[in-house]
Amino acid sequence: MKVVDNISRMATLVKIHKKEGKSVGFVPTMGYLHEGHLSLVKTAKKHTDVVIMSIFVNPIQFGPGEDLAKYPRDLKHDEELAGSAGVDIIFYPSAKDMYPPGYCTYVNVEGLTDNLCGRSRPGHFRGVTTVVAKLFGIVKPDIAYFGQKDAQQAIIIKKMAEDLNTGVEIKVLPTVREVDGLAMSSRNMYLSASEREDASILYQSLEQAEYLIDKGERDAKKVIKAIETMIKEKTSSKIDYISIVDTKELKDVDTISGEVLIALAVFIGKTRLIDNIIKKVTADVK
Ligand code: PAJ
Repeated sequence: MKVVDNISRMATLVKIHKKEGKSVGFVPTMGYLHEGHLSLVKTAKKHTDVVIMSIFVNPIQFGPGEDLAKYPRDLKHDEELAGSAGVDIIFYPSAKDMYPPGYCTYVNVEGLTDNLCGRSRPGHFRGVTTVVAKLFGIVKPDIAYFGQKDAQQAIIIKKMAEDLNTGVEIKVLPTVREVDGLAMSSRNMYLSASEREDASILYQSLEQAEYLIDKGERDAKKVIKAIETMIKEKTSSKIDYISIVDTKELKDVDTISGEVLIALAVFIGKTRLIDNIIKKVTADVK
């Protein structure tokens, strides 16, 4: 496995592989890897000849007062994990090369960024789509892999890839969870032992929501209230949002029908965690 920290060297390597007729799979990350990231690599490995992973803590997707400075970093450990999962090249650019003085081009997906995390973290998705568009320009992947864990991000990137005619196929893979259901996240390392225990309420509350819908509940407000009640029982929690939206436009729904995304963001102590499930309702219960 190679580690490449230079943008033009990365672009040249890709050119060489493409000339040899090889397909390129791409897994963009911010590092501090866990099984969620590695599941993307393992699938990329099955579909494509060369798997490139970027590790870049992208400063422009963090808002003021967010965790950019303390975001966990461990390149050595990441190299070991990435290597054993089958990554061929780690792309590890610096912030000053990605955003040199005078940098002034940004990618903004409208509408889809208004709700959910877009509402709580203004400018966040503009940072995400900008860096992903740049990375696509450098790595020129055939297929890029994203996790369902960041459902809104995946939907926004799909739309960006299509609207900008990038020619990159976007694949979205299931959320990998700890045994108690907590979605794996680099940010879980911020949690104290008691917060870590409390954090499992996020997925439990989503499972409860699913159970209520399976039993015939169609009133989004009632399902949201049930999730809220469960989460509030944990004193370490502070709810950012709990929303039920359609999966096309990400707009709040009153009545649950078709396919909906049930998404939440909750602070456990000082750590903001997100999780979601997609629920398909086939026939309405009378
Ligand atoms: P990061 O949080 O490092 O996540 C990288 C990729 O791994 C994303 O596609 C994310 O959805 C996926 N992922 C994270 N946790 C997962 C889990 N438990 N199960 C499955 N997939 C999971 O998301 C980002 O970085 C950045 O915003 C990025 C796209 C790299 C742009 O900077």
